[in-house]
Parts: sequence; C-alpha cells; structure tokens
Amino acid sequence: MTVGDPRDVLALKRDGRRLAPEDLAAFVTGFARGEIPDYQAAAFLMAAYIRGLDTSETLALTRAMVESGRTVALAGVSRPTVDKHSTGGVADGVTLAFAPLAASLGLAVAKLSGRGLGHTGGTLDKLESIPGLRTDLSPEELVRQVERVGCAVAAQTHDIVPADGALYALRDATATVPSIPLIAASVMSKKLAVETELILLDVKAGSGAFMKTPEDARTLAETCTTLAADWGRSCRAAVTDMSQPLGQAIGNALDVAEAVSLLSGGSHGRLRDLSVLFAGEALSRLTGAGMGEGRSAAAASMDSGKGLEAFRHMVEAQGGDPRVVDDPWAVLPVAPVRRPIEADRAGHLAAVDAEALGRASTDLGAGRKKKGDPIDPAVGIVFRPKIGDRLEAGEEIGTIHARDEAAARECVPRVLSALTMSSTQVEPPPLVHGWFGG
Ligand code: URA
Repeated sequence: MTVGDPRDVLALKRDGRRLAPEDLAAFVTGFARGEIPDYQAAAFLMAAYIRGLDTSETLALTRAMVESGRTVALAGVSRPTVDKHSTGGVADGVTLAFAPLAASLGLAVAKLSGRGLGHTGGTLDKLESIPGLRTDLSPEELVRQVERVGCAVAAQTHDIVPADGALYALRDATATVPSIPLIAASVMSKKLAVETELILLDVKAGSGAFMKTPEDARTLAETCTTLAADWGRSCRAAVTDMSQPLGQAIGNALDVAEAVSLLSGGSHGRLRDLSVLFAGEALSRLTGAGMGEGRSAAAASMDSGKGLEAFRHMVEAQGGDPRVVDDPWAVLPVAPVRRPIEADRAGHLAAVDAEALGRASTDLGAGRKKKGDPIDPAVGIVFRPKIGDRLEAGEEIGTIHARDEAAARECVPRVLSALTMSSTQVEPPPLVHGWFGG
C-alpha cells in the first residue's frame, strides 16, 4: 500500500476530518518503511492528538502498526500464555515482578514492553540497566525463551511492531503521549502482535499517569478492551491508582533493585499488592483457580523465592548478569552522589504530584528529552512515604541518586514541592478503581 501525498492525510486530520482506514494504514506503513519522514509523522501525531481518532481510525491505526511487522504465534508453547502491560506510571515496577512471578506459577509470559515515555519509566530501560541484558529478541528467540524459561520481555524491533517503536520515540519527543487513541493503539499493537491466550492491562489513573482521572482511565481501558474484542482476544483491564508513586524507586537500576527486593519477599506495600493481584488474576483466568487461590499462590511464590529464581533465569536467558538477584548493587550501575531528602514540615501526606517526581528523575538523566537521547541507568529518586503517612519535619523520606552534587541539590526542592501536607488524617486512595473487559 502506498500513500499518494502524505500532506493530504495531514490536512484532513488537521481539519478534524475522519481518515479512511486505507489512507491511515498507508501513512503508517510508509512511515514504518522510512518513506515518510519524522517531521510529517510528528505533524500527524499532533493533529491526531488534538483532533482525536474515532473507533474505526484507532482500529485502522492499531492494525497498521501490528502489520508493520511479524506476529508471534505461541500455539506451540506448552504452558498457558499471558501478557501484561501498564499504560505508564511512576515507580511502576509491576511488570518486572509479574513476568517471573507468573512464570513461577506455571504460566508463560511473552511480553513486548516499551521504553520510558514522558515522565514515566519504561520496562526496557529498567531491564537494560542490568549489564549484558538484551531486549532485541527475534520472534523465534522470544518463543524459545518463553517455552524454556516461562517468561521473556522484549522490545519492538524491525521484526515486531516496528511502527510502534518509531511512533513511540516520536511521541515521547513531541508532547503527544497522553492521547487515548494513541496510547490504546500503541499498547494494543504490542499485545495483539504476540498471540497470548490472555492480555492483562494495568490502566493507570492519577497524577503520575497519562490519564489523570479514573473516568479517563476507564475510557482508555474500554478502548483497549474493545480493540482486543475486535481481534477475538481475551483481555481484562484494571484501572489502578497512580496518584502517587506505586513503589519507591523512580529510575532504572533503582527499579530493578526494588523488584529484586520485592521478589525476595521484601515488603513493598502497594507494589507487592498489585503484582500479586495481576499474577493471581492471570492464574485464575487461565487455570480456573479461584481468585483468592490465585492470589495466595502468587504471594506464596513471592515469599518462597520461586519468583526470584524465575527472574534469574529470565535475566540469564537474555544475556544479563544473573548475579543481580543475589547482590543487585554488586552488578547494577551506582550513581556517584546520594543526597537524603528530608521533610521540610510535619503533617499527613495528602497528595503527591507523581508526574513532577517522574520529571525530576528524568532531569537527573533517568529519562529522555529528545528522541534517541541516552539515559543514565544509575540515577533517580527513592521516595518512601505514601498518602496518609504522618511525616515529621526533618524526617528522611528518600534519597536522590545523581551524577553530580549540583543535580542532586537542584532535585531536592523539586521533590518537596511535589508534596501536599494536611494537618488532619488522610485516607489512602483505593489501589484498584475497577476491572473492565472479559
Ligand atoms: N505504554 C505504551 O506501550 N504505549 C503508550 O503509548 C503508553 C504506555
């Protein structure tokens, strides 16, 4: 398929008109093949961001993205197969724990992940902070590893959804990320390209998410589950809380260390709860176990160290240094400067601008500002309190991990100004707002 003059597609969307599925598909295919330059694709993204895409356009975009590469058939895998994806959050290390945890429960996780996007972290960037670890698996490598180890986390490549890889990087650099159809097409193209029996989505809502309200997150969840249903795929989406960092680590190596500690049975509150919830949901949907039974099995796997062993096998299979599970900081890159963050007033933590924390971490070097920017895997923020906690003035609430003193000094007031304190007690927000899809 070829696009005549890409400017016709741009002009139609600029003027708020509906694109014919074949024109949209031709545009995306042309971009994925390198025939349409970045500047025209960026103009398309901005027009789509502002004008929106209706259901048939979103479907056409998703289909063109899937068809830009090969699909990965998993029919030969002997275990029940599942994929899980987050729409993006801050200190959201669920995937790092979920994949090995589900594998340790006898499931097979075949997952295409993304890089950091906007202020949010990306599983690929986090995993690649482990020395040697590769995410550019071919479809054949992905299937082999899933069968052998029970889980694999890979990137979009020129073989698998290349159009998402290219559009994703451009969206990150052009402020066109928080759009329901663009997120839905990006997430679902990666999920539909890999033919698992079950897709689980973690659709984030709150200050650290692209969807700031549970209502918008619900629309995104329903858009994604509708795309899956059109494809005849089974998909369940949970809208979950992102009104504060989920775990404590906002960075890359820091997130890996947190995942190792979580999989070692360390207590990590809401991050643990959500990881167990998704693994339990997968087990119960795929094996018919009751929900309570699924969650108990997931919690037991975490506490017994079976999930951690599965993580070791996954890291090793992807070329990473497996000693990361025994002694993370002997292997992971360490930032040269560490500066404590102390609360500047007493009170109950009432709200956190998690996006501001994500941006502060990006500015330390943990994320990208321009397409192709290198990231610094060692830097980031550890932020411990949760909404509802009582803090005392001067209490240490976290640590900045920075490349130099100036960056660390600059970051502290940014963290403190992201916090809202109350003189009265505050109820923690619910972790899960609801489930959608079937
Ligand atoms: N995750 C993705 O894969 N794509 C998005 O657009 C947002 C989150």
